[in-house]
Amino acid sequence: MIKKLTSLIVFIAVLVSVNAQEKSFAQYFTPDQKYLMLPVKNGAPKKNMEIWVDGVLTRYFDIELADAQPDWYAYLKVDQWKGKPVEVRVDKLAATSKAFSTIRQSSLDTNTNAYGESIRPQFHFSPKRGWVNDPNGMVYFNGAYHLFYQHNPYGRAWGNMTWGHAVSKDLLHWEHLDDAIHPDQGGTIFSGGAVVDSFNTSGLATDGKPAMVAFHTGAKGWAQYMSWSTDGVNFQTWDKAVVPRVNKENRDPKVIWYAPTKKWVMVFWVERGDNEQHSMQFYTSPDLKNWTATSTVMGGIGKDRYLFECPEFYELPVQGMTGVKKWVLTGANTEYAVGTFDGTTFTPEETKLQQQYGRDFYAPQTFSDEPTGRRIELGWWRTKTGIGSSSFEHSMSIPLEHKLVKTASGIRLTRTPVKELEQLRGPVHFNKKTISLSTAKQNFDIMDMELGEFKFELIPGKASQVIMNFRGLELVYDAAAKELVADGVKAPVTPVNGKLTLHVFMDRTGLEVFVNDGLVFMPVNVNLDPANRTVNFSTKAGKATVNKFEAYELKSIYK
Ligand code: FRU
Repeated sequence: MIKKLTSLIVFIAVLVSVNAQEKSFAQYFTPDQKYLMLPVKNGAPKKNMEIWVDGVLTRYFDIELADAQPDWYAYLKVDQWKGKPVEVRVDKLAATSKAFSTIRQSSLDTNTNAYGESIRPQFHFSPKRGWVNDPNGMVYFNGAYHLFYQHNPYGRAWGNMTWGHAVSKDLLHWEHLDDAIHPDQGGTIFSGGAVVDSFNTSGLATDGKPAMVAFHTGAKGWAQYMSWSTDGVNFQTWDKAVVPRVNKENRDPKVIWYAPTKKWVMVFWVERGDNEQHSMQFYTSPDLKNWTATSTVMGGIGKDRYLFECPEFYELPVQGMTGVKKWVLTGANTEYAVGTFDGTTFTPEETKLQQQYGRDFYAPQTFSDEPTGRRIELGWWRTKTGIGSSSFEHSMSIPLEHKLVKTASGIRLTRTPVKELEQLRGPVHFNKKTISLSTAKQNFDIMDMELGEFKFELIPGKASQVIMNFRGLELVYDAAAKELVADGVKAPVTPVNGKLTLHVFMDRTGLEVFVNDGLVFMPVNVNLDPANRTVNFSTKAGKATVNKFEAYELKSIYK
């Protein structure tokens, strides 16, 4: 008993002394520059920060505030509050903390070695700093592709969900813009899609300029909200939810225009019952503001994540079936259904299909209003970039084009790299019609390549394994298992007439592998050894052949 009492006293004493060393900080200022720089130390304890403008709580977030030397600075845009009294508050900071003395205004957003880090992927979208997960609001508007994304601007771990924003003319080079939609009374801003209201059904156009209208989940009450912009940069949020919570958790509204009925269609994920039943809920609307529930498609239960989170829904013509079009419904894990849609109800014909066998490719979305009529996708790729003092974490996949094709097993989705990627090709690095592979290492003369693209046909022949070594990462075709394997990631692949067609993209952060014209997509996130810039192929037990081998060194998007 006495022993217990002593330990209790010690415990209380520690608490008191900790409290005695901590205090709340507040700082007042009047913005006269564009940004406020906030010092971040990766892994430091999270502190709640509040920004009060004119006495109104306007931003709130947690931040791994650096008490001493920061790893990097987060940039909070403040010039919209020019001339107004702004107060920055933080609760319970060590009394000795230097954090507040380093907070300062800046006219430019220039800190850190942005884009120069050794871990920065060189042809994949990644946030300038902070954390990224799902792509959001993907839409072509006023001559540019707009990519919004789940973003933590104040740390490189998940949190403070805000819509980050970037634009591109070519899907490769991205201009980073200021964050578009910030947490508000509805909570942090979770995923969703965006459309251009070309016919002004919402009445939100100004001076004849149509609005870009974005839909997102408020993570406090799981309702669906709407924000819009006519300049593509500044957003306003509708003052109430457009779709209140249906049941339990629901989120990730994706909106499309259905021309035959001249109505908008919203699809989002709803959890049902007490057994974590996943489902996709459909609504329709004449004007983007008033929505009516129409139908539901059931997915998996619990860990069976078929039709869980982040729906994507669109129609495509089927290659090889003249005049036939089908609808595709997917969830975040990319399992999909193919079927028909009448404007209110999706009727699946084939369900729980999969094309993507990679690691950590999740929650992809496609562009609305794409000017060439293609269905182009970006997926969140959990590349391993949040290491050391790096200021950012994760990236997107390369842009992928979706197609539906007729196959012997049914109608299937393919993903292939968009044509725009060819602009990154340097001169052909290596080009050979036929290469015979054996157990001896084939060197190919590819000795110094950091970023690459490889296209070839592989005839495994009698080889039990074909080992394709990309800068130390082995992509192995296993003939007995009919599998491609890399770093434990496995994809089933079937040679057609004895051959596989392979298309491989190699960045610092891993490989994206496409097989048989996109019937299989296999992204493998491995940080490649900076010291290894060689590519070579060989076999185990038997000979194989590589035909039509093309290798291109790729240019960095930052050069
Ligand atoms: C998928 C997801 C979404 C959600 C978002 C939150 O990765 O969980 O369902 O809207 O991330 O960041």
